[in-house]
Amino acid sequence: MDRRTFSQLLAFGAGMFSASHVAANAAAADAPSVDNVDKAVPDGNGPVDGEAWPASPVTINDFIPLAQAKLPKATFEYITSGSEDEVTLRDNVDAFRRLRILPPLLHGVQKTDLSTSVLGQKVSMPILLAPVAALRLFHPEGGRASARAAAIAGTICVTSTSVGNSVEEVAAAGNGPKWFQLYVPSDRELAKQLVKRAEASGYKALVVTVDLGERKDADLRNRFSLPKDMLLKHLRDIGHKQVSDRNTYEELVAFNAKAWDVSLSVEFFQWLRRETRLPIILKGVLTKEAVQQAIDLKLDGIVVSNHGGRRLDGMPAAIDRLKEVVDAADGRLEVLFDSGVRRGGDVLKALAMGAKAVLIGRPQAWSLAAGGETGVKLALEILRDELTNAMISSGCATVDDISPSLLLSAAT
Ligand SMILES: Cc1cc2nc3c(=O)[nH]c(=O)nc-3n(C[C@H](O)[C@H](O)[C@H](O)COP(=O)(O)O)c2cc1C
Repeated sequence: MDRRTFSQLLAFGAGMFSASHVAANAAAADAPSVDNVDKAVPDGNGPVDGEAWPASPVTINDFIPLAQAKLPKATFEYITSGSEDEVTLRDNVDAFRRLRILPPLLHGVQKTDLSTSVLGQKVSMPILLAPVAALRLFHPEGGRASARAAAIAGTICVTSTSVGNSVEEVAAAGNGPKWFQLYVPSDRELAKQLVKRAEASGYKALVVTVDLGERKDADLRNRFSLPKDMLLKHLRDIGHKQVSDRNTYEELVAFNAKAWDVSLSVEFFQWLRRETRLPIILKGVLTKEAVQQAIDLKLDGIVVSNHGGRRLDGMPAAIDRLKEVVDAADGRLEVLFDSGVRRGGDVLKALAMGAKAVLIGRPQAWSLAAGGETGVKLALEILRDELTNAMISSGCATVDDISPSLLLSAAT
């Protein structure tokens, strides 16, 4: 992929309303309402007066049809699809299913404490919101809704550079802990200003995503494209003061194509380390060699991730790489995990393999689309409940009790 195509894809991440998108949105407005996630707590009495059951998600996957009914096809597929043949996307989820939990009996555990700390930040559970681009395209409240939901759940919201809201807008949305995920402007001075703005706005860590190069058939078929107003806002949010609505769409696209550094190297991290005191987390690690690079660069944490199967198809399931990475890290930096988490039991498995916490991408996007802040809050509560159940069933009173001995591999 050339630099221009990739930069466009980065900008896709900022969210967009193309002409076809606007038309599709209008059609979606006529679709039956599924905005029932706020009625999601069942009362046990069944439907009232012959009404259909409210669409009340009880699992993460229950949000998928709700999101689908709310969103234009192209937007739903932008969230849900993976790269090329989606081998990695499927494997991320299937690999969790292949792992088996073998719990002890007679453990006497009745209650659990899910709280933990991640890079020194106390959280109520080891489940964080992953950086997701274009949240404002999925729901008008976008990154602000996610930040509020995370704050209420007592966990960390990692905000994408391409979320569709400015650094300051998301920071002002809620008082919960936030980290900033950095896509790097090619203008280093602007990159520096972005980092300083994140610091000044109270973000507590920087997540630098290095697995770049999204190419998804669905997006190509759907001609998923940037609407002018969102592209303009995105560029201005980054700090490009020279763009304005007097620019043509083509001019903005051309400008955006040059706006991002898509060839990050060790030198960038040396520069970033000098520029900020915030902890730096490398996202996209799958090998012990990458762990060593992160250690050599004195980084603070890593996210084991294949970008949810949205980057190079054919990469292994992220959970299948976790053990090697944890062993290589050997406690020298904190290891987080994402890609394929759909159940509280998946969280237990990732923690049993040594992750400190997990992040959720699509579950956040689907639930936001389905019900805004309420939707994301509910998704986090579902995962919390499932993890609580998995921990009690496994005799784990605290997250520190979750150990590798709980796991059998499918081959065992
Ligand atoms: C719609 C969408 C947009 C994403 N945008 C970003 C992004 O801007 N920055 C980033 O680092 N990761 C991004 N990701 C990847 C997530 O942070 C995360 O790695 C991935 O979604 C985890 O897999 P999961 O979707 O199976 O939970 C995005 C994921 C999705 C689904």
